[in-house]
This record gives sequence, structure tokens and C-alpha cells, in this order.
Amino acid sequence: MTWTRACSAADLVPDTPLGAVVDGVPVCLVRTGGEVFAVHDECTHEAVRLSEGDVADGVIECWRHGSCFDLRTGAVLNLPAVRSVAVYPVREVAHDVQVNVHDAPGSTSTRDTP
Ligand code: FES
Repeated sequence: MTWTRACSAADLVPDTPLGAVVDGVPVCLVRTGGEVFAVHDECTHEAVRLSEGDVADGVIECWRHGSCFDLRTGAVLNLPAVRSVAVYPVREVAHDVQVNVHDAPGSTSTRDTP
């Protein structure tokens, strides 16, 4: 696994998404419920940043049309998006948040529309 620093742990305000670029990949970081999650920072419906959305109950809601994605699995929970978003392994080490964007199991970041 290749871990890369994404941000400082102190940068993650609970339930407030933070966009970062990790090894050239846009990542949306979220601290919620005592855990940290990292998902691809692009909605699978259209090319907008999920990090500009809202977080509640382990879900991030796309600000544009309201599709919600499970932060733990990346699963899409409602239309109009129909594809899951990629989730990335994330960990806190000392004062840093590290993400591995090279290992996103079982998910895709492909958008629904070209
Ligand atoms: S762009 Fe995200 S739901 Fe449409």
C-alpha cells in the first residue's frame, strides 16, 4: 500500500467535507461519527465535487441534484446517480490523515453521463 499525506488531522472538522488532491486524485475527506472516510471527490452523476455537499448519518449528499452516497462503502443510495463512488483506504498517523488512492476496492468513480 502506498499511503500519502492528504491533510492535517486538525483540518478535518466533524461532518464538514474537505477536498484534497492526493497523488493527483481528487479526494473528499470526512470525519464523522468518530471515524474518517475518503471517497472520490466527484459525483458519479455529473462532474461536481462531493466535498461541497452535506454530511449526515454516514452519508454525503451531492449538492447539485441530491444523490446520496454511503461514506463507508461508496454505495449510491438514491437517484439521479446510479453508480457507486470510489472509496479509498484512509488512516490517521500522528497528526496527519493519510490516504491510499491506489487501492480502491470494489467501486468505481465512473460518471453516469459522458
Ligand atoms: S451531479 Fe451529483 S446528483 Fe447530479
